[in-house]
Amino acid sequence: MSGIDTSDPCRAVSEAADVLRMRWNCVPDVAVVAGSGLSVLRTLGTRIDSVRYCELPGLTTSTVAGHDSELCLLQCGSSRVALFTGRVHLYEGHAASVVAQQLALMHLLGCSSVILTNASGGLNPARSVGDVVVVSDIINWTFRSISRQPLQDHRSNSPVLDDRWQHAILSASTLAGVQLNRGVIAQMLGPSYETRAEIRMLRKCGADLVGMSSGVEARWASSIGMRVAMISLVTNTLTDTTVRTVSHDEVLEAGRSAEARVCIAVRCAIESLPLSV
Ligand code: HPA
Repeated sequence: MSGIDTSDPCRAVSEAADVLRMRWNCVPDVAVVAGSGLSVLRTLGTRIDSVRYCELPGLTTSTVAGHDSELCLLQCGSSRVALFTGRVHLYEGHAASVVAQQLALMHLLGCSSVILTNASGGLNPARSVGDVVVVSDIINWTFRSISRQPLQDHRSNSPVLDDRWQHAILSASTLAGVQLNRGVIAQMLGPSYETRAEIRMLRKCGADLVGMSSGVEARWASSIGMRVAMISLVTNTLTDTTVRTVSHDEVLEAGRSAEARVCIAVRCAIESLPLSV
């Protein structure tokens, strides 16, 4: 199988977009995707509507523990927020274009900003369990991408994650009394956690964190003009010197303990959304 997925993620969800246009009669200001164990993000605002993914034609349901499959429209302060309470992953056997469907749906509705949240393992020894990180850049180690464009239409070095937004999130969270960090995430295919050799390799490559989601869809969304921010919760630390097993339960438990800080970080991201693209 080629790692390049040439399907258009928007095609699969065009009917779902029609359903939401009828139901919502508004364009969300921002979309938020909840990572593993983070569906608590539904407490960010007052619920205006909620719809199961299976009621939206073409939208794929998550099969992973800790991921719900409900799309909520929330009122958070003055912002309308579309919250996906769970995501689908490449390691569930989905193509990259399927993983990007949630962002495609928002794009079709006219929503141009998205906050991706995820759980990650800390590679940088300065990171501890419970740290919340504003991701500054991505290493795509999945060897998957979504593209219908010929090579000459791609640019190197164009930022995937919005710089201005990152700095605004960091300033807003400091004011809110929560210290966030910044770092680079590597996305692996999963679902296995990293070997010791992979941990060494990823550190040498400059990754501070490693996860199993978000990078591929972030890159696609930014290529179609969406503004993307990524917030990661360090749910475990990784070491190449001693044997320490990481499990999905540990990831979910860390999510529960850090719920309040993650919610503050995402609220800061919503409130500091730059006005112009
Ligand atoms: N590796 C990859 N993905 C993860 C990890 C990890 O250690 N923790 C949470 N998501």
